[in-house]
Amino acid sequence: MIPVYKPYLPSYVLKYAHDVIDSGWISCRGPYVEKTTEKLQELLNVKHALLVSNGTCATHLVAKGLKYKYNNINNIIVPNNVYVAAWNSFLYDGQFDLEVLDTDLDTWNADLSSLEVKENSALLAVHNIGNVINIPRLKEKYPSLLIVEDNCEGFLGKYDNKYSGTESLLSSISFFGNKNITSGEGGAVLTNDDDIFDYITKVYGQGMTKTKFIHDTLGYNYRMTNVQAAILYGQLKHLNEILYRKEVVFDTYKRLLSGLEDKIAFQKVEEGTKHSNWMFGIRIKGNVSYNKAEKYFTDCGVEIRPMFYDIDYHKHISISKDNRKTKNGLLLNDEVIILPSYPTLTLDELQYICNCIKNYVNINKNNLIGPELVSRPKLYRTLTCPTGAHGGDYIGRYYYSSYDLRTEELRKVINSINNGLYKTNNDVFSILSKFEYFRNTPGFIKENHNNYVENIIEEADKVINDYYDSLEK
Ligand SMILES: Cc1ncc(COP(=O)(O)O)c(C=O)c1O
Repeated sequence: MIPVYKPYLPSYVLKYAHDVIDSGWISCRGPYVEKTTEKLQELLNVKHALLVSNGTCATHLVAKGLKYKYNNINNIIVPNNVYVAAWNSFLYDGQFDLEVLDTDLDTWNADLSSLEVKENSALLAVHNIGNVINIPRLKEKYPSLLIVEDNCEGFLGKYDNKYSGTESLLSSISFFGNKNITSGEGGAVLTNDDDIFDYITKVYGQGMTKTKFIHDTLGYNYRMTNVQAAILYGQLKHLNEILYRKEVVFDTYKRLLSGLEDKIAFQKVEEGTKHSNWMFGIRIKGNVSYNKAEKYFTDCGVEIRPMFYDIDYHKHISISKDNRKTKNGLLLNDEVIILPSYPTLTLDELQYICNCIKNYVNINKNNLIGPELVSRPKLYRTLTCPTGAHGGDYIGRYYYSSYDLRTEELRKVINSINNGLYKTNNDVFSILSKFEYFRNTPGFIKENHNNYVENIIEEADKVINDYYDSLEK
């Protein structure tokens, strides 16, 4: 089965986690929490980042921060068809009513055309499946609207060339295992507001005063561990590589599925924004039942996911019928399928999935074949050049047909680094990502377990560790 997601955990990510375990600083204290916080603030150009244990508590802190600063807000405008944590986070304390907007059929985000700005209301913007809402544009249009972001799926997407989550009052991120950047479980809250930051920092750590063990506010334990932070730190070091790989996956889907516009639609990206490329979905026009599609794709050996379900499916959330305008949401539940989109998807797999899609939408009407006959991906993966290091700008340009060739290629990579042929960080980075790809190619290490390969791996490990150490300095 080709899964919907697999986290990409290059061995160097785990190196940092091992460091932490060796050091014994496995709870929330330790250098990685601090280092990663700084890295995140610098990357996103935001004043405060607070690392927390998951995206749900991050979003809960968004709700708490909003209420703390604006006590008059008791109505939160939320989208339909989002992950339940976005709604729950605003219900935990019983301080907000949810007002639900229906979903836009093109962007699959909240349809903001019916947005009404009221004194006691704020908007929770959720960048559904990674499709970023243009918050700066929204602020221009509705200057008095208070906006907070659940950026758990939008993280690393952009609006007006700024990272999503940085232009509203405060925002949340999730680093769950299926996110572009992961720490297993994990999350963060971003804000430029000092008061809010002080408040959420207090409640996330049991509401403690400046005196240890004296507490004056009802608080939680929402802290991220040093182990999680170390994994996150390693992931952020591979940021460009991961983003590149995801970009290739998304572009390849669009390329392979082009020409099917009368049958399927992609998520429409708003002007001035960049999708975070979290998950790739298609809307199959006229599909009468998601379950039918799921059965077909399961038979094909492809895992798919539904669009998040319409709020009406969630019986614990009671909202008056007046606040539910969710016709489009139900339609998208039938028509949208979320496809595998993990960073190491190969061209073979992508081609296979797209063939299954074409078959499903009856493109080959005269020649309709059963899922079992759509050609399966090859057992061994196509090697891709993930960074375009050799001018290969498209997935599949690099294809090594035998392990010998791969070994030789790796040998050349190491020699090149050792001989200083790659001078800039970008050059070295390209080569390193290529090496990572070798390492992560299933079968390569295991089935070529001989001294020659082992020596190369060991040598490359050293070269790469030295490289990462030099980055630290
Ligand atoms: C929109 C949204 N909000 C909140 C969360 C909660 O994040 P977590 O699973 O890390 O708790 C998620 C999770 O993916 C999400 O998609």
